[in-house]
Amino acid sequence: MRVLVIHGPNLNLLGEREPEIYGTQTLAQINEAIRALAPQLEIDARCVQHNSEGAIVDELHAACRDYDAVVINPGAYTHYSYAIADAVAAISIPVIEAHLSNVAARESFRRSSVLAPACAGTIAGFGADSYLLALRAAATCVERQRRKAGKGDRT
Ligand code: DQA
Repeated sequence: MRVLVIHGPNLNLLGEREPEIYGTQTLAQINEAIRALAPQLEIDARCVQHNSEGAIVDELHAACRDYDAVVINPGAYTHYSYAIADAVAAISIPVIEAHLSNVAARESFRRSSVLAPACAGTIAGFGADSYLLALRAAATCVERQRRKAGKGDRT
């Protein structure tokens, strides 16, 4: 099972960026934790980070060919990027939205996600563990899809 993990804008600054909100782990440390968990779930995980919206759209288009699922933390694009939301809706593989902070408990603009309706689900508020929980969710989604396909069940 192949899973692409996409980190959105400003997440390259994790560790130094508002640590009281986003924690002290760097992106490299988070990616290391993802890569440590992945084999236990029989997942081959690749992690990428992009600050620009178009690069994230391109990754999503390509992911459809090469991956079984995507975990994405779209950063602030979560709240207004219809281009990324459309890209998520356009691809057939499950996409799990993940956030380090509990966006529901923050400023009002962070409480809505334009991507969420196109995603399989959202995990937020568990710091770096949100990514690990999202990886588990991705594995569950793909396994469920495979079981359904195996049974010829299209519901
Ligand atoms: C974030 C929450 C977003 O509102 C914010 O713009 C981010 C990080 C999170 O992981 O908690 O950049 O996606």
